[in-house]
Amino acid sequence: MKKIKITYFLKTFACLLAFISSDIVSGNNFATINEFVAPVAKQAINEKHNEFTASWQQASANNEYQLDVSRNSSFLTYVNGYNGKIVNDVCAVVSNLEENTEYYYRVRAVVDGKLSKNSNVILVSIQATFNKELTLKSAATDFLVGVAVNPNRISNAIYSEIYQREFNSLTAENAMKMKSIFQGIDNMGNHIYDWSKSDAIVNYAEANDMNIHGHTLIWHESIPDFLQNFSGTNDQFQAVIETYITDVVNRYQGKVDSWDVVNEAIDDNSVSLRNTLFLNRMGKDYVKKCFQFARNADANVMLFYNDYNLIFDSKKQKSALALIDDLIKSDLIDGVGYQMHINYDFPSKSVIRSATNQIVKRQLLVHFSELDVKVNPNGDIDQFIKNRALAQRNKVNDVVTVYNNIPNKFKYALTVWGLKDDDSWIMQRYGNMDWPLLFDSSLNKKEAYLGFIEALK
Ligand code: G3I
Repeated sequence: MKKIKITYFLKTFACLLAFISSDIVSGNNFATINEFVAPVAKQAINEKHNEFTASWQQASANNEYQLDVSRNSSFLTYVNGYNGKIVNDVCAVVSNLEENTEYYYRVRAVVDGKLSKNSNVILVSIQATFNKELTLKSAATDFLVGVAVNPNRISNAIYSEIYQREFNSLTAENAMKMKSIFQGIDNMGNHIYDWSKSDAIVNYAEANDMNIHGHTLIWHESIPDFLQNFSGTNDQFQAVIETYITDVVNRYQGKVDSWDVVNEAIDDNSVSLRNTLFLNRMGKDYVKKCFQFARNADANVMLFYNDYNLIFDSKKQKSALALIDDLIKSDLIDGVGYQMHINYDFPSKSVIRSATNQIVKRQLLVHFSELDVKVNPNGDIDQFIKNRALAQRNKVNDVVTVYNNIPNKFKYALTVWGLKDDDSWIMQRYGNMDWPLLFDSSLNKKEAYLGFIEALK
């Protein structure tokens, strides 16, 4: 009881403060009783994560008012309890509100039963608050939380602090791809490698006791030019690929415990393999060959197939599952990466869940491997508006909820494809402005970050 009394006093005191702080007591604002005009609503004060104090300037000697609070500026609907709520003061605490939501309020005076006109309308944006103790990795007790990184970022103290605070797994965005490592073949047939970038990432992960997921041994979008123009026979080409996979897996044996062996081998909206150099030079079973090369190099490393749009492209999903089933038959696969490059409004939680279950029922590890959530896929906004931020938060919540509901034995990691919005590949690839990640360009946590955390409460 005592606590409530104190709370009530504080709230009343807050109103009193609003009253004193307003220019109402300056004397020149006391309207004579017959100037029955609308009060003037003022900016809200004492905004917290679930309440604010509405305040207004007294319009006449009376002090009875009706307060309206709504989630829309036209007051088509009202927040429960705030449709003409009687207030005998020049301010009122509006509570039990939702975080990250915009509210509008207005007020009118009541004198001898007559109502004044409505006041002006005030917008109040209730912000989220972040529990500083909670981090993404501490909230995710049953799976790794990963982030895509680059050598220049891990050497940046500000990025590094956040990587270590929030994540326990890393994926090299580009540094461990073939184009980054494989520099050429000398005239004796020896491979020339540049391990500098990939070593930087692996060493950083090792030094900070973080998991490192290997991305990716074979990908048609990361073939060095000398290999594109390889003049040898197909058998010689295949021997180069086998040596490359063996050398890379061997170098990081015991440090990199999982690899995307082949990335994006299935064509979009198709039942066939993508027409790539590997298909043309190694034949239609090139995927299985590459998985076999990796398995031969390290019997303990976990081998993943990684692709995008498998969640909702039914033809592509069917083809990928056929390829995965074939690898399962040869005991060559341990997990599947669903990249999760999705939109704020698509795909639905149920579609994500259904696609995920396809992997779980095959008793494979699931990696949501490259999560980002576009909020401007159609280029119809030029600012990160509130309703897209909230929709993104909900979509991230959907994804993490589905992932967290996977049986623990099939959880591997949920990896976001970058740290802050303006680091994302999306703007360069699609041309629209976008805000697809969990941190904004100033490295502040976004509502999407909250969506991630809330799914794990
Ligand atoms: O490093 C060179 C730089 O020296 C040069 O000046 C510049 C000129 O454009 O290019 C730089 O390389 C770029 C590289 O990212 C590093 O920034 C490449 O052009 C650019 O194509 C490359 O884009 C990456 C893309 O994969 C292709 O490798 C994106 O950062 C990366 O986010 C994206 O990630 C892929 C996943 O690996 C697989 N799933 C899809 C995902 C998005 O495409």
